[in-house]
Amino acid sequence: MAPRPLIAGNWKMHLTLVEAGKLVDALGALMLEAPDKPACDIVVCPPFTLLAPLSIACQKYGFGLGGQDCHAEEMGAFTGNVAAPMLADIGCSHVIVGHSERRSLQGETDAMVKAKAEAALAAGLVAIVCVGETEAGRDSGKAEEIVVGQLLASLPQGATAGNTVIAYEPVWAIGTGRTPSVEQVAAMHKAIRTALAGPVAEAAGMRILYGGSVKPGNARELLAVENVDGALVGGASLVPADFWAICTSCT
Ligand code: PGA
Repeated sequence: MAPRPLIAGNWKMHLTLVEAGKLVDALGALMLEAPDKPACDIVVCPPFTLLAPLSIACQKYGFGLGGQDCHAEEMGAFTGNVAAPMLADIGCSHVIVGHSERRSLQGETDAMVKAKAEAALAAGLVAIVCVGETEAGRDSGKAEEIVVGQLLASLPQGATAGNTVIAYEPVWAIGTGRTPSVEQVAAMHKAIRTALAGPVAEAAGMRILYGGSVKPGNARELLAVENVDGALVGGASLVPADFWAICTSCT
């Protein structure tokens, strides 16, 4: 049986405390008023400063709460970083690791992403491990090979369907309004599922999210693709009606 979909909102470096409270309350109101609850789990991933203040509201509405990154070490002299147990301590359930913006702008390697994901698991968090090819990678005709290589090198030791989520996000589709074709998404997600079957015992139950310009207008089509078990949503997660429309596109 396919896993229950997960829709995760990646707020990136956006919103003040007041704006964030309004956004979560707006989503919460949509959740409370909905006659039929969306057929997915919902997680919001705000910047670090907003996590603790949003923790109780997220709990009240049944939304998971995720960080956008964590350090690989449990604690220590790492100025400016946040450790996975700190996220767990303030009520986080999830953490994104290896987002392409961190890989490209902060120089994170697969080994670093793997270490961060392992720290997340050790802290009891679900790691959302991001992978995805660049435009040049896609044009090379080797996108699947590239992504599977990244996946196997970034996957934490001890990954299970319960503690790890994969997010396939083609770099060229993030924030651009462009998306791969349904066929390309299907082929990549199948390749990821097949690759997971080696290291993960219950690979069929591990969620594989699609991310990159998911909007209300394309969510239904993308979420219906085989082996797509939800979405990681950037821009559209900042607009309550849009994020909600994506959540309710899960069937
Ligand atoms: P986008 O971002 O939905 O704005 O393309 C997705 C992401 O970076 O996770």
